[in-house]
Amino acid sequence: MIHLKELDKNNLFEVIKIHDTLTEYQKRCVAPNVVSIAQAYVNPQTWPRVIYHDTEIIGFVMISLHDEDIPKEDQPSYYLWRLMIKKDAQNHGFGKKVLDIIVHKAKEEKQKYLYTSCEMEDSMPYQFYITYGFMDTGLNDGEQILKLKL
Ligand SMILES: CC(C)(COP(=O)(O)OP(=O)(O)OC[C@H]1O[C@@H](n2cnc3c(N)ncnc32)[C@H](O)[C@@H]1OP(=O)(O)O)[C@@H](O)C(=O)NCCC(=O)NCCS
Repeated sequence: MIHLKELDKNNLFEVIKIHDTLTEYQKRCVAPNVVSIAQAYVNPQTWPRVIYHDTEIIGFVMISLHDEDIPKEDQPSYYLWRLMIKKDAQNHGFGKKVLDIIVHKAKEEKQKYLYTSCEMEDSMPYQFYITYGFMDTGLNDGEQILKLKL
């Protein structure tokens, strides 16, 4: 079963090491977790969580519960800042299950959209989000901006 837990002193270093498992291209798609955790420390509106498959740590996800970059008419919405599944756990449907958990939380909290952005050098992770139902906003701020209607 996939579930999300808070960071703590016991899982911190294992979460940081996940970045080393990614391919060179994947490393360009997502910031190292150590950077994300530092950002979480200075951005109180973020919601960082460790992804577990049963008792095994398989990834890291972080959303921003409020984001100034989202247009006023689409507020309130969450912004998925980071999603990382370790290399040997990819393509098992886990990333999709994490999106399900985030979407469930966002709907419960009456959000309009889930925003995210991604690199466009390769079909992944763009296809992952489009298959899930994200729309391409056509906007690009260095990365393609996508949104999912909730
Ligand atoms: C992108 C990422 C989060 C996806 O997680 P994942 O667990 O590997 O993806 P899933 O197994 O849940 O795939 C879900 C769906 O995405 C689509 N998908 C997955 N890999 C794909 C590929 N290579 N090409 C096209 N579609 C793909 C499929 O439709 C799949 O559903 P299906 O298995 O029922 O066909 C993960 O690969 C990852 O961490 N990549 C490195 C970091 C990264 O790019 N993060 C995103 C930052 S924006």
